[in-house]
Amino acid sequence: ARLVVLISGSGSNLQAIIDACSRGEINAEIAAVISNKADAFGLQRAKNAGIETRVLSHRDFDSREAYDAELMTVIDSFAPNLVVLAGFMRILTANLVQKFKGKMLNIHPSLLPKYQGLNTHQRAIDAKDQVHGVSVHFVTEELDGGPVVLQAKVPILSDDTAETLAKRVHEQEHIIYPLVVKWFSEQRLKMEADYAVLDEKQL
Ligand code: GRF
Repeated sequence: ARLVVLISGSGSNLQAIIDACSRGEINAEIAAVISNKADAFGLQRAKNAGIETRVLSHRDFDSREAYDAELMTVIDSFAPNLVVLAGFMRILTANLVQKFKGKMLNIHPSLLPKYQGLNTHQRAIDAKDQVHGVSVHFVTEELDGGPVVLQAKVPILSDDTAETLAKRVHEQEHIIYPLVVKWFSEQRLKMEADYAVLDEKQL
């Protein structure tokens, strides 16, 4: 598969996917990494791995529609089979989501459908949850609402802060995101109607 990865920040999930590709665990090539922030550390990770990068700053556009139209053109120029959102902190327009329907994945740091949106770790602590986690899902027009493919759970400990909990969740992110990208790259994973469907034959 040909992947395009979208980031806004540190890119530790990007790194996990780069590493899984270079170890031969994922049969895919990362064609490009696109960031909406010029100072995203993930861009450096991409360059270190010899991957093409593009910066598309939302500040250069008058509207979300104009930004997403250009983003679509840039993504398309790399002709990916799969678009991987890895900490891309932008809400996408319906047009863009429609265009990559069934071909776009996101990782969200909660056990969806709980805690869509931001500050998920603090919200889980405040709610006195004992379990928290992370979800990889297909992207649909509903923010953090598309069909879930895989989740990992972690305990919430009594002395956890948002930071210590986020760290525990991140370790799981780096395991489950490459795994889902691997399944997609092997054409074992599809979005059908509102469901993620995994071909069990090769499990
Ligand atoms: C992760 O917590 C991910 O779940 C969320 O954004 C963060 C990205 O982290 N969507 P990184 O840039 O991959 O380190």
